[in-house]
Amino acid sequence: MLNVGMIGCGKIAQLRHLPEYDENPRCAIKALYDTVPERAAEMSGLFGGTPYPSIESILADPQIDAVSVCAANAFHASITIAALDAGKHVLCEKPMATSLEDCERMVAAAERNGRVLMIGHNQRFADSNRVARELVTSGEIGSILSFSSNFGHSGPEQWTGQSNPWFFDRNVALFGAIADLGIHKIDLIHFLTGQTAIEATAIVETLDKKFPDGNPITVDDNAFCILRLSGGAIGTVRASWTFYGQEDNSTRLYGTKGVLRIDDDPEYALILEKKTGECIRYEIGKILTNEEQLAGKKKKSGIIDAFADAILDGTKPISAGSDAIHAMKVVFGALRSSMKRETVVL
Ligand SMILES: NC(=O)c1ccc[n+]([C@@H]2O[C@H](COP(=O)([O-])OP(=O)(O)OC[C@H]3O[C@@H](n4cnc5c(N)ncnc54)[C@H](O)[C@@H]3O)[C@@H](O)[C@H]2O)c1
Repeated sequence: MLNVGMIGCGKIAQLRHLPEYDENPRCAIKALYDTVPERAAEMSGLFGGTPYPSIESILADPQIDAVSVCAANAFHASITIAALDAGKHVLCEKPMATSLEDCERMVAAAERNGRVLMIGHNQRFADSNRVARELVTSGEIGSILSFSSNFGHSGPEQWTGQSNPWFFDRNVALFGAIADLGIHKIDLIHFLTGQTAIEATAIVETLDKKFPDGNPITVDDNAFCILRLSGGAIGTVRASWTFYGQEDNSTRLYGTKGVLRIDDDPEYALILEKKTGECIRYEIGKILTNEEQLAGKKKKSGIIDAFADAILDGTKPISAGSDAIHAMKVVFGALRSSMKRETVVL
């Protein structure tokens, strides 16, 4: 049995971590903490476990084996490193941290303490992406020549239900759409292709979002990235908080033998179009949109089960900190590229 502590009891804890720990017969939610104590108390009423008075009190409890870090971005690194040094396994939400040095310190802390560190790159666990990766690996689309991957919706105001969420504040979030949404797609491209980005050319800007006083938000709301991968493929990753219509969570991989269309068709989560003209449509579940999650539609992301399996069975973590760091390097490289108005070697 894995005894778990929840640090940060906001939206992602409520909609993903707590329900999925609750559903896993090998996990028990034992401790909850949030800087807003009523939130931890409310979640304790719904999912069990005891509200603790501080992060330190959770980390000092020898009964707690693992923690989920679901606080705002600026706090990820310090909480994660403290938890690993206290001997806990950690599932930390994305974006991993707000500096590359902190990402490296997190991975080093996991290694020196012999603990599992996973990052919330849950798109790796979606059926469509998992099967797509198998098809790429088995050579169904040949060598990948190019790709495009988009993640855009109307912004974190809808997700949090607040007109001025912390996501807009550079001091707490550090980055906007690029690391809120783009990080998922950068990591996904690494996962699907088995390659890593080696070069980035990007424009990362604030096009529309404003604070209630009318001033632009202090993080980006749009990111346009052109990436070159280690295997030679070139493609785009686009992240946006200003898609004021239907959410776009789509990816296409273009290979020498065909095309894979992932989550870009209203009916089929995965379509393989072969150069020969053959088209295979896969009957697998689509990834949940933010809107569907907020409306209470349930579908396991799978990341909590994988975290528990990695700790209890010693299985290889699928979204380990040591993998996530490569995607974070691309985020920081894209920001540098945008600032300098030039292509950056990663
Ligand atoms: N994997 C995903 O798809 C996904 C989706 C949404 C959010 N997230 C990430 O999850 C994290 C939390 O986002 P959210 O949407 O739940 O935000 P949220 O604002 O709903 O929740 C954050 C919670 O953390 C608490 N908090 C803030 N600082 C804290 C601290 N130092 N210690 C303990 N609690 C603290 C807040 O009071 C709040 O309850 C963010 O980093 C976000 O990027 C990931």
